[in-house]
Amino acid sequence: MKEYHPPLGSRDALRLDFNENTLACSPQVREALGRISAGSLTRYPEREPVEALVAAHLGLAPAQVALTNGVDEAIHVLFEAFLGDGDELLLPVPTYTMYEIYASATDARIVAVQAADDLQFPFERLLAAITPRTKIIAIANPNSPSGSAATRAQLVELASRAPQAVLLVDEAYFHFHGETLMDLIGVLPNLMVARTFSKAYGLAGLRLGLLAGPAELMRWVRRVLSPYSVNALALACLPPALEDSSYLDWYVGEVLAARAEFEAALDAAGVRRWPSRANFVLAEIGEKHAEFVRLMRAAGVLVRDRSSDPGCDGRVRITIGTREQMRQAAAALNETLSALKLRVPQHAP
Ligand SMILES: Cc1ncc(COP(=O)(O)O)c(C=O)c1O
Repeated sequence: MKEYHPPLGSRDALRLDFNENTLACSPQVREALGRISAGSLTRYPEREPVEALVAAHLGLAPAQVALTNGVDEAIHVLFEAFLGDGDELLLPVPTYTMYEIYASATDARIVAVQAADDLQFPFERLLAAITPRTKIIAIANPNSPSGSAATRAQLVELASRAPQAVLLVDEAYFHFHGETLMDLIGVLPNLMVARTFSKAYGLAGLRLGLLAGPAELMRWVRRVLSPYSVNALALACLPPALEDSSYLDWYVGEVLAARAEFEAALDAAGVRRWPSRANFVLAEIGEKHAEFVRLMRAAGVLVRDRSSDPGCDGRVRITIGTREQMRQAAAALNETLSALKLRVPQHAP
């Protein structure tokens, strides 16, 4: 297996490197945390009542939803449950790193389909790569690090062209995109959808995600899933997080406004970027990418070098936070580009 070392360490700066919420979770969640008693921590967590509540929130039956220790655990248990010797995992790349990491712990073969230079969803190439051995197709939608998205029609077509496989649609960045396949759970027999509370909800530290799918498929997943992997603090915070939709709407609105401003700043500086449907943007820095990341850090802004992702040499991913934070990031960007002699100001025609 490949080792995975997230570049955590000292992160005492503006953290635009992990696509987290850059501000805070809902105040209602903080209040719920304050109400947790020491006595309640002596008990093993009971996930079923909260699972039922989340299912109702999504318009699904409780048997169709499992809470997980982040989407990472959902990916892990799904791959453990379904991938064996002789099976294939079909992946468009570049994409979220953990698919490859968890698949490499199974005996399945990884079939990676490279996106073109525009980093759009490689739909036709994926269709052509389906074989009778394809067992899981994993699609982050929107995708990371590109920010691009597949359409609903493309995903439905993929599911129907690979009836022997599970189509996992990882909607970690759903709130910034607004399009979902959740309403097709139980309608398409091989569709599963994952969501996280780590991004828009601002709860990455609690480790909370969910996997939804047809009850027959979820039964296999539950055999592998630890009964206690979602802890009591996460379970206590989930209902108020779901309830406070106005906080979520405010945060998403703030990020979308900040993204438009920051994209304009990249354009003005002559930096190529890829259109994003999520809370981050991928920028072309070129051969000075490592120095760029280092100088941005020195200016108090952490960004993520994606150069080792397939087809991403010289590209850096920048998380979008609030407008105020992104104005600070844009100032650091311009300073850094000037220091590296990379700034090519664009003039209006
Ligand atoms: C596409 C995608 N899926 C899942 C995750 C991880 O989610 P979680 O924090 O719920 O494990 C990430 C995090 O960056 C991601 O980009």
